[in-house]
Amino acid sequence: MGRAFVYVILGGGVAAGYAAVEFAKRGVSHGELCIISEEPVAPYERPALSKGFLLPEWIELVLGTRVKSADVRRRKLLTATGETISYKFLIIATGARALKLEEFGVSGSEAENVCYLRDLADANSLVNVMQSCSGGNAIVIGGGYIGMECAASLVINKINVTMVFPEAHCMARLFTPKIASYYEDYYQSKGVKFIKGTVLSSFEFDSSGKVTAVNLRDGSRLPVDMVVVGIGIRPNTSLFEGQLTLEKGGIKVNGKLQTSNNSIYAVGDVAAFPVKLFGETRRLEHVDAARKSAKHAVAAILEPEKTGEFDYLPFFYSRVFAFSWQFYGDNAGEAVHFGDYSGSTFGAYWISKGHLVGSFLEGGTKEEYEAITNATRLKPAVEDLAELGRQGLNFALTV
Ligand code: FDA
Ligand code: NAD
Repeated sequence: MGRAFVYVILGGGVAAGYAAVEFAKRGVSHGELCIISEEPVAPYERPALSKGFLLPEWIELVLGTRVKSADVRRRKLLTATGETISYKFLIIATGARALKLEEFGVSGSEAENVCYLRDLADANSLVNVMQSCSGGNAIVIGGGYIGMECAASLVINKINVTMVFPEAHCMARLFTPKIASYYEDYYQSKGVKFIKGTVLSSFEFDSSGKVTAVNLRDGSRLPVDMVVVGIGIRPNTSLFEGQLTLEKGGIKVNGKLQTSNNSIYAVGDVAAFPVKLFGETRRLEHVDAARKSAKHAVAAILEPEKTGEFDYLPFFYSRVFAFSWQFYGDNAGEAVHFGDYSGSTFGAYWISKGHLVGSFLEGGTKEEYEAITNATRLKPAVEDLAELGRQGLNFALTV
């Protein structure tokens, strides 16, 4: 059994959805484009885990179908159902998978009240578990995005939350201790407990296989009704290992999102691409990068002469409780805090080698977010860090 398409998108997540919409906008013909996804539903917006993409119905959707091997030389994909799908151009948009506790030596992840969160099926099961333990105790393992966002949702749903993570403060990959302590204080005022500097060592189960308690490496034991795990991700590169060049855990691409094979492009969480602003290759795990890299790859495939290098300013954001922050650029070098850390609008700039390279802002207006975006893109020279801190947002607004 075999089918052939001009364009195949492997993966059915955020980047796949945006790539398909871009192909449609640019007038690809019926029968030319196929999306293959392991998920049983068409691509959707992962952050909301709700909104669907409006894909034209002529795109061939091969859903609920895992690709189990790829033959780059012959330009063929083999699905778990035994079908061969060949392509002229392939876009790899396989994203990433959630890391499992088993990979850190803890077993028991498959218990029904232990939840991970990556796709729609995970989100549905998390909501079911949460509804079944109203007023109960949840342990959230991991102090990153999933940990912080899920802890807030659990509290709003009247569940007692304890967060456990190995670092000294939450969001350690991005936040400074000062930024982290602002949010941690608020979480604590809402009843969240933090256990830092330790990790899980084992689960205890009842006779039905449900987790009833967790044991931590520091010796403490916590009774639980449910566990949410957000301990990072691993890009889905395995189909292409040994066939395409990898870097930073992802599939290495050039400024046109093209891999080491020139009929294959990679976008989204799985792609390691050159970030011009930093002069180095990065793999980003955020939705804005997924959307924009997907669109750029399609432009590069359809109009190679007219399409330049992808020039991307990294952008991350989150919204929890009534908070809303945005970050642009790179959190490298020295952080300079500004604004009112006892109020609701504050931020930080990062200065590396005498230039502003990153900006964080909580509670800004549209104009203020635009100002920090522009300032970060311009990378202005900064000599006096104390003066920068005093000027705060005015620096970005007048740069
Ligand atoms: P994504 O993971 O979306 O899609 C990968 C697709 O490939 C899946 O459909 C998968 O099934 C499929 N696939 C993989 N291997 C396959 C195979 N062998 N065969 C067939 N199909 C295969 N970011 C942000 O900036 N702001 C935010 O607020 C959030 N919020 C957020 C919430 C939650 C719950 C999650 C899990 C993530 C976020 N993110 C986020 C991160 C953001 O969603 C992420 O960066 C993008 O989904 C990445 O898009 P991709 O398309 O690269 O991967
Ligand atoms: P993350 O990388 O943000 O955080 C992982 C956390 O796991 C670390 O902060 C650390 O505290 C913890 N950790 C690492 N090893 C551990 C161990 N052995 N035991 C206990 N804790 C450990 O990853 P995540 O929170 O799992 O998020 C998954 C992905 O989803 C990421 O790519 C993230 O960017 C994305 N996401 C993004 C957003 C957003 O941008 N607003 C929201 C949700 C998810």
